[in-house]
Amino acid sequence: MRNKITVVGAGAVGSTVAQEVARRDHSHVVLVDIIENLPQGKALDINQAGAVLGYEPTVVGTNGYEETAGSDVIVITSGKPRSPGMSRDDLVTTNQSIVAAVTEAAVAHSPGAIIIVVTNPLDAMCHVAKDVSGFPKERVFGQAGVLDTARFRTFIAWETGSSVKDVQAVVLGGHGDQMVAVVSATTVGGVPLTKLVSDERIAEIVQRTAVGGGEVVNLLGTSAWYAPGAAVANKVDAVLLDQKRVVPTTAYLEGEYEIDGLYMGVPAKLGAGGLEEVVELDLTDEERAAFHKSGDAVREVVAVLDRDSSE
Ligand code: 2OP
Repeated sequence: MRNKITVVGAGAVGSTVAQEVARRDHSHVVLVDIIENLPQGKALDINQAGAVLGYEPTVVGTNGYEETAGSDVIVITSGKPRSPGMSRDDLVTTNQSIVAAVTEAAVAHSPGAIIIVVTNPLDAMCHVAKDVSGFPKERVFGQAGVLDTARFRTFIAWETGSSVKDVQAVVLGGHGDQMVAVVSATTVGGVPLTKLVSDERIAEIVQRTAVGGGEVVNLLGTSAWYAPGAAVANKVDAVLLDQKRVVPTTAYLEGEYEIDGLYMGVPAKLGAGGLEEVVELDLTDEERAAFHKSGDAVREVVAVLDRDSSE
């Protein structure tokens, strides 16, 4: 039997997630949006692509939540994207009410689902989804780290002239400009990055990664969607196929990395149980300090949330 996944928000990221998951051919996909005809049109288009690409046409577009009932995974992409000059944090108040409303509606029909949050500011929106759903931390986590790590790996592949497939890396922390590329854990074909690239160039690549989302916003006038959509599909696979992938994930920390009661990006094992384990890396003192600085930035945004209205 096919799994069932609901993608809330049929904008650029949501429809890319729906397309990526449809292509995997393991799930029934329901795409929800309040805009009339938008999810229906996207679903029709994605279904018809299946005839060419070789997957079954099982995507449904809807403006309501009845069709989402019994979903195994709910992906929340709804909300406003960034425009040039905006930080992700500028979206916090607008997107809090949107994420709260769609979470409430979606979990009412799928009380056993695993929620993957994508809406920015990501770390804060994970708090909203957790508060509103009342789900345990294993079933509410966020997508950011696979995307941030993908950007870092891409830049390293270009710098070293190597295949991106052979670049192993991890980017941690909040999904903001303070994110932490863990250089000490970065290798190309098993060789430490620090042996291949000068410290100066590494620092430039780390900085480009940290503002990688903004670089796309400045080019396109809105947020990225291909890499974000692919990154979400990677997590959906890990859960629905019980892959036990260890990938950077925005997790609710309760003491890990000496952080308590905060969502932040860390490596985590994803499988049928959702976020099954937070993996603790040995960070250098500098990386640990940067991680905590990123935590302070996340706390500042979470403090802006109206927690009473989302509980
Ligand atoms: C990004 O980094 C949209 O936050 C997302 O591109």
